[in-house]
Amino acid sequence: MIPPTIVASRNELNTALLAWRKADKSIGFVPTMGALHAGHISLIHEAVGTCDVVVVSIFINPTQFNKAEDLAQYPKTLEADLLLLNNFTDVIIFVPEVSEIYQNNVEPSKIDFDSICERLEGKFRPGHFDGVAQVVEILFNIVQPQKAFFGQKDYQQVLVVKQLVKVLELPIEIIACPTKREFNGLAMSSRNLLLNEQEINAAEIIWKTLCFVQENKDKYSINELQKLATAFFNEGGLSLEYLEIVNAADLSPVKDWVQDCVCCIAAFCGKVRLIDNLVLN
Ligand code: PAF
Repeated sequence: MIPPTIVASRNELNTALLAWRKADKSIGFVPTMGALHAGHISLIHEAVGTCDVVVVSIFINPTQFNKAEDLAQYPKTLEADLLLLNNFTDVIIFVPEVSEIYQNNVEPSKIDFDSICERLEGKFRPGHFDGVAQVVEILFNIVQPQKAFFGQKDYQQVLVVKQLVKVLELPIEIIACPTKREFNGLAMSSRNLLLNEQEINAAEIIWKTLCFVQENKDKYSINELQKLATAFFNEGGLSLEYLEIVNAADLSPVKDWVQDCVCCIAAFCGKVRLIDNLVLN
């Protein structure tokens, strides 16, 4: 049982992992941008439960922010994050600087994402998934895990990472873990730290709308339900960016309920952009 080691460089991380690699132990990886919450902690528990050693990275990746002010306002709570991780054993915390990650100016691999990146988030945050794919590829190359754990809240990100692993033929299993929710159903997110109490209450309309869609799925066509759900959502006072019911496998548009569908929502609550989704039964 080894308490968390904190490392900042690739070399230090390799040294910390050396004995584990030599003993052929399994490495789990939980990439994060910090501001850790119960959602992240559940990913780490899942990783610790299925791997011999777990690397948790805390790195706010500048290349995935398409707006400078979004990067500037992203919560930075490193001290509290490290405290939260203090009780984990057999965990290595990787906290690199930007220069450590992007030290070689290596061009990201050209990956065919089959249009997944262009839909939903991709439309509203151009370049976002290029940045995510870029940093995840670099982190995967550094950590070389057997398993990597991601939250289902970022549904599209999970699809993008799965496609990245498939195209690059990386021997990494991607595990998507269920979304953790606040008392009112609001999906846990680092960005929730930027909401005041009133906004947290107002933001419950996102989960309520997802439940509304689930409950009414068998009564309406997709087109009708999307319209009804949008009207339901708009009663809540948030500013909707998109509410779409799409193919759960690749987020492509759907006309009928034949295939598995997911409802995805993105909205502004005050200045804070929130996303959530529900795979429909
Ligand atoms: O989901 C996140 O926190 C980030 O997109 C990730 C996967 C850590 C890459 O920066």
